[in-house]
Amino acid sequence: MPKLTVVNRAGEETTIEASTGLTVMEAIRDNGFDELLALCGGCCSCATCHVYVDPAFAGQFGAMSEDENDLLDSSEHRNETSRLSCQLSITDALDGARITIAPED
Ligand code: FES
Repeated sequence: MPKLTVVNRAGEETTIEASTGLTVMEAIRDNGFDELLALCGGCCSCATCHVYVDPAFAGQFGAMSEDENDLLDSSEHRNETSRLSCQLSITDALDGARITIAPED
């Protein structure tokens, strides 16, 4: 099982084990982080699952869809590492990646 380091909004780091096949959003939520609201349940329509991904692993997450890009544009906190975590699948290649929960919009 790949391990991810999740950084919450207070800057605290927690290492979690994430099952492959889940999304990053599901893995974070299932590990008890209540900051990641994921209000739409992963349908790519809310942007409350916004995270910053580890630049060293950016190539492992797959391309961004137009919908994801449009939703991220609605965030004041978008940066070049922004992704919607419900659109990111967990794979073994993500072992050691660091995922930071973006500030709330
Ligand atoms: S959970 Fe709504 S866009 Fe990701």
